[in-house]
Amino acid sequence: MATKIFWILVLLSFSILSFAQASPQPPLYLGTAWYPEQWPESRWDADLDLMQKAGIRFVRVGEFAWSTMEPSEGKFDLDWLERAVTMAQKRGIFVVLGTPSAAPPAWLTSKYPDTLRIEEDGRRAVHGNRQHFSFTSPRYRELARRMATEMAKRFGHNPNVIGWQIDNEYATYSYDDYTRSQFQQWLKSKYGTLDSLNQHWTTAYWSQTYDTWEEIPIPVGWNNPSLMLEWKRFVSDVYRSYQKNQIEAIRQYADSRQWITHNFMGWFDGFDHYTVSADLDFASWDNYIGNGHLNPWKNGIVHDLTRGLKRKNFWVMETQPGNVNWQQVNNSLDKGEVRAMAWHAIGHGSDAVSYWQWRSALGGQEQYHGTLVGPDGKPVPLYDEVAQLGREFAKAGDILRGTSPVSEIAVLHSYDSRWAIDFQRHHKEFDPARYLESFYAPLRKLTDSIDVVNPAAPLESYKVVMAPGLNVMSDADAKHLLDYVQRGGHLVLGARSGLKDEYNALHTTRQPGPLAQALGAHVEQYYVLDKPIPVSGDFGSDDVKIWAEYLKADAPDVRVLARYGKSNGWLDDQPAVVTHSIGKGQITYVGTWLSEAQMNALALWLIKTDKITQRFTDVPEGVEVSRRVATGNSPREVYIVINHTTEVKHIKLPSAMREQLRGTAASLEVELAPRDVAVLTP
Ligand code: GLA
Repeated sequence: MATKIFWILVLLSFSILSFAQASPQPPLYLGTAWYPEQWPESRWDADLDLMQKAGIRFVRVGEFAWSTMEPSEGKFDLDWLERAVTMAQKRGIFVVLGTPSAAPPAWLTSKYPDTLRIEEDGRRAVHGNRQHFSFTSPRYRELARRMATEMAKRFGHNPNVIGWQIDNEYATYSYDDYTRSQFQQWLKSKYGTLDSLNQHWTTAYWSQTYDTWEEIPIPVGWNNPSLMLEWKRFVSDVYRSYQKNQIEAIRQYADSRQWITHNFMGWFDGFDHYTVSADLDFASWDNYIGNGHLNPWKNGIVHDLTRGLKRKNFWVMETQPGNVNWQQVNNSLDKGEVRAMAWHAIGHGSDAVSYWQWRSALGGQEQYHGTLVGPDGKPVPLYDEVAQLGREFAKAGDILRGTSPVSEIAVLHSYDSRWAIDFQRHHKEFDPARYLESFYAPLRKLTDSIDVVNPAAPLESYKVVMAPGLNVMSDADAKHLLDYVQRGGHLVLGARSGLKDEYNALHTTRQPGPLAQALGAHVEQYYVLDKPIPVSGDFGSDDVKIWAEYLKADAPDVRVLARYGKSNGWLDDQPAVVTHSIGKGQITYVGTWLSEAQMNALALWLIKTDKITQRFTDVPEGVEVSRRVATGNSPREVYIVINHTTEVKHIKLPSAMREQLRGTAASLEVELAPRDVAVLTP
């Protein structure tokens, strides 16, 4: 008994001690990707000192370091990593550990070539790049799990390790026989019988009828749209289980305070991110502009998309320190733009901004990428701008603690619909992501937050739900949307909505399929446009492009809001936008790709019709207002106002506000220099 008590006391004091070692976590994290394995240990102190000086509060390490962590099969060396974690801790720099499965070592791929993925053309991937593994390979999963387990055993209780990133930017598929048999199994458990599959896929067409599950191929290039959609869903499940394999390994040994995330790639649609993020604590993404400059609306929607994956704040796990190396023209962001971009992320609900990378490896594929220190180990010019951010995050952190964006408007985003449209764009410029942006941007300019969520998300808190291009619409989706409308919501459908069922087959009711009756109108015919055609009505007169649907009212109380002018004869004078009240709410259908001016007018109409709160009015062009809110014990609202232009702007505030970065007294107006930022509290 006495020994038992002794050990309990030892354990207790140990955990109190380790707890005491961790410095308080900042509400906003500035970070960088650091690769200590690429440098002599004698250099680490200098790097960490420079990071500390810049206000860096976390490093992400390890995500490509498998060959250093397991130099030969089953021989693990994590001592160096532990030393790096401890050295960071001494400077108040927390650590996010990346599991290294995106870069299997050469001993592994040589000994187990079956773990290498097979490309679409049947060739096996070769060593020397990354992501060369097969995502279904049981052997690969076992080896990756073992590596993650070793890391979790060593760092699962480390007070300085705050969280984990699984793998890095999932992206590739494998077309090997095992994957194919897994796909067939997956289809079998989904459809039960081949009769059901053949019927839903209309396989009588072109003699595609399948007599055995083994006959079903992995689609390469053009194939049956139902098969292509199911492959994408299968791939999504595969990535989810690939990730879960490592999450489980970590969870077995890690403290529950250590969170687990993955760094997604924005619009990338290789898999359904709602599926893959289901097991994560929160989502992260790697925000690169690549070529050009920050467009706050184009970039903002992607922040909101990432926030919508888990419907909570997210992290920017990587962003460019000036420039990337993988574009045709790798221009640098302007002076001040990196700072504006960081605050833009915070405004949209990120709680961290991390620069990829700290310092270029001297060799390897990415020598030209932007960094914070040069090959000589000394700060590059951008370092000071990031150090300014470090000071600002520390200053404004407390006021932003526990805050998130709150939206009255949602844009529905569905991978099924994006895939279905992309398989058969019909007009090469009908890019479903750009179509979403055309609805999002004008309303975002007039408001301070929009959510981007999937169609199954709870909708009752929104005054307006926009579903541009909800091409694949199941009966369950339609019911969910109709419930929302019946209870008083305003649903705005865009062109191509409700054409397909969940198997990617055509609905037998005209668009919007299961919502046609509620709309009291339907799409009589759709037309691809080879030249712009006029549309006029409540949103002004202008030319529309790409796509036009000839709408026909079925119910007497349908209101036509816009009509086509003279065009191809079929469309002349026909409705282009209609609206219908139903239950306590309203459905509007926009049958075309309206011009920017018309979308602006539509946005104003929605603001008025649905009484959307506009806190800031007369916001100058190029200025973005974002709002984060804390509820609960210490309710607060914080505005992040950014001048994304290269001119001075004056912004009228709705009430007297204090500027937190400069600590100025309350004022009714704020002046922002080019690319400058204000963090304001009423
Ligand atoms: C991706 C990767 C990083 C790095 C950067 C370069 O986001 O995750 O490892 O290659 O791109 O921009």
